[in-house]
Amino acid sequence: PPLAGAIHLDPNFTVGEVNPRLFGSFVEHLGRCVYTGVHEPDHPSADEDGLRTDVLALIRELGVTMVRYPGGNFVSGYRWEDGVGPVEQRPRRLDGAWRTVETNQFGLNEFMRFAAKADVEPMQAVNLGTRGLQEALDLLEYTNHPGGTALSELRRSHGVDKPHGIRLWCLGNEMDGPWQLGHKSADEYGRLAAVTAKAMRDVDPGLELVACGSSNRSMPTFGAWEATVLEHTYDLVDFISCHAYYEESEGDVDSFLASAADMEAFIDGVVATADHIGAKRRSGKRINLSFDEWNVWYQSRPVNNTDTPDWSVAPRQLEDVYTVTDAVVVGSLLITLLRHCDRVTAACLAQLVNVIAPIMTEPGGPAWRQTIFYPFADAARHGRGQVLRLALDSPVHDTARHGEVPLLHATAVRQEDGTLTVFAVNRDTTRPLELTVDLRAFSPVAGQVTHTALADPDRHAANTLQHQDRVTPRPVTGTVTDGGRLSALLPPMSWNTITIPLA
Ligand code: AHR
Repeated sequence: PPLAGAIHLDPNFTVGEVNPRLFGSFVEHLGRCVYTGVHEPDHPSADEDGLRTDVLALIRELGVTMVRYPGGNFVSGYRWEDGVGPVEQRPRRLDGAWRTVETNQFGLNEFMRFAAKADVEPMQAVNLGTRGLQEALDLLEYTNHPGGTALSELRRSHGVDKPHGIRLWCLGNEMDGPWQLGHKSADEYGRLAAVTAKAMRDVDPGLELVACGSSNRSMPTFGAWEATVLEHTYDLVDFISCHAYYEESEGDVDSFLASAADMEAFIDGVVATADHIGAKRRSGKRINLSFDEWNVWYQSRPVNNTDTPDWSVAPRQLEDVYTVTDAVVVGSLLITLLRHCDRVTAACLAQLVNVIAPIMTEPGGPAWRQTIFYPFADAARHGRGQVLRLALDSPVHDTARHGEVPLLHATAVRQEDGTLTVFAVNRDTTRPLELTVDLRAFSPVAGQVTHTALADPDRHAANTLQHQDRVTPRPVTGTVTDGGRLSALLPPMSWNTITIPLA
């Protein structure tokens, strides 16, 4: 028999307004994310900037609002100057992070042209691994200063007359990770981030700055890292970052489907730490969270398809092929981000193209949507407005990694256009779930509900070069509103988007 779950909503009980930056993504110089991903001058669809227009169209369809660049681990060894000026004079360099050769054919100015065409806000990271304060200031001067100084004039000599005006900056990347070039202790990093933030703000007080938090919640320094970094930077930054990747291990699909429980604990833990530091300082300021790397990533698989790094250019790295199960987990993670939209005001699905990505490409060939494309596109399109608090009745089950979790995971967003959208995941792998939503406090327009679900009898089904549309969301029939009650049947292991026009 089907399971049963219910959601109770009240229009006056809201979590907060969704910041459009919640639907960010990430382009790193890693594998084929940049080269043959977004940038492939010889591709039949390439425009005058060498950007693949087929990929640009998919990025717009995905609804991405912001893109973090240029790393990731890559940024911790990157010299930004290598990526500006005449392309034929740009140096080839070893990239120690991913053990490849970086050609620098794509750099800051190319990225900004990409951002304009993709209609996304740039989020720029500075190298605080092998570099420091001076180089961050140099990059800021080149990027944002109008003119009349050495570096702003250098930019102008590169054909970019107007400053880029980048507002959002990451102070390094994953500096708590021993794998990071220039890895630091919390104290070392906190101090460097503070002096860098202060100097950058002195140049431009309008900047928004992100200090590095923990690379994941299982880092031994989790919590203590955030506390120390924020002791140094509280008054100087706006965000602390969180990164989290999940994978199914040892066939434990139930724990995998409950990954959002970890993300939730991560967010709650960082908020508690940040607010504790704020309270100690009697600060009226609140630090928000930038969840600027999150996704499903099979980290247990080799980085290169062959795992024999040969210092090649743009090899196939981290090209995970996502299944229906992975998409349901991504949907559940999106639900968690939305449910915490009062404190998570920026987030990036890592990454955007080819590298653990919603969009895949073949060099010289097509571009297509992976399964995880769909929950992101649904949330980015329908998840704008006020997130409502909800009371949830759900059956629960036990998981090895996260303990007891509800089988129904959901959120509801009221959009400005008068639509109420319920996003819901059924975590049960075999049974459908009968959902009722109490809408008596709203005025649903009779007979106009739409319901789509991403689900498949084969949970391992995926979209590939050969079968690009094997998995797509399908309309679900039978979803109705009646007397202020919505009834819907959520397929087993499914991501659901239910939109309800309100009068
Ligand atoms: O997104 C892939 C990598 O994951 C990033 O380079 C790094 O920041 C994280 O560990």
